[in-house]
Amino acid sequence: MSDILAIYPGSFDPITNGHFDLIERSSRIFDHLVVALLTNAEKTPLFSVEERVEMLEEVTREMKNVTVDTFSGLLVDYAVQKNARAIVRGIRAFSDYEYEIQMALTNRKLQPKLETIFLMPAESYAYISSRLVKEIARHGGSVKDLVPPVVEERLREKLASRMEEV
Ligand code: PNS
Repeated sequence: MSDILAIYPGSFDPITNGHFDLIERSSRIFDHLVVALLTNAEKTPLFSVEERVEMLEEVTREMKNVTVDTFSGLLVDYAVQKNARAIVRGIRAFSDYEYEIQMALTNRKLQPKLETIFLMPAESYAYISSRLVKEIARHGGSVKDLVPPVVEERLREKLASRMEEV
């Protein structure tokens, strides 16, 4: 059987410890994992695509079967282009479930051979989201236990430069 490649797609604005936990778990299951950053999301990100890729690359550097890439357009088209067998998504709480099922079933309709695999992060990360991390950082709270050190540093720099602009 050929090597199984999975894709872990997302906005990663920025990557949190919850994302990182899922990357580690997935890298132990699949032969190869591509962490794929959507570049044409509708929401306005805090970090540029380049900054988010840099942070992802930095935190996955030691993981030999993980690569970081970007994609635009439909996820299933990108997955086919990569010859992927699975899409990995994290489910933290019931609140994630509806959106994730909708997305997974839509992707299955578009590309029946591609499976979506749901993984749970460690309990201690189950409440973390990029949105809350940004909100905490914006109001001067500590995100030390929520994101990798490089992200904590980047958030500090980004928010400091924003303060200088106003
Ligand atoms: O981290 P996010 O923002 O929850 O990730 C969402 C993402 C990037 C996985 C999703 O928006 C996506 O796959 N977008 C690409 C466009 C697409 O394929 N849409 C149809 C899927 S239902």
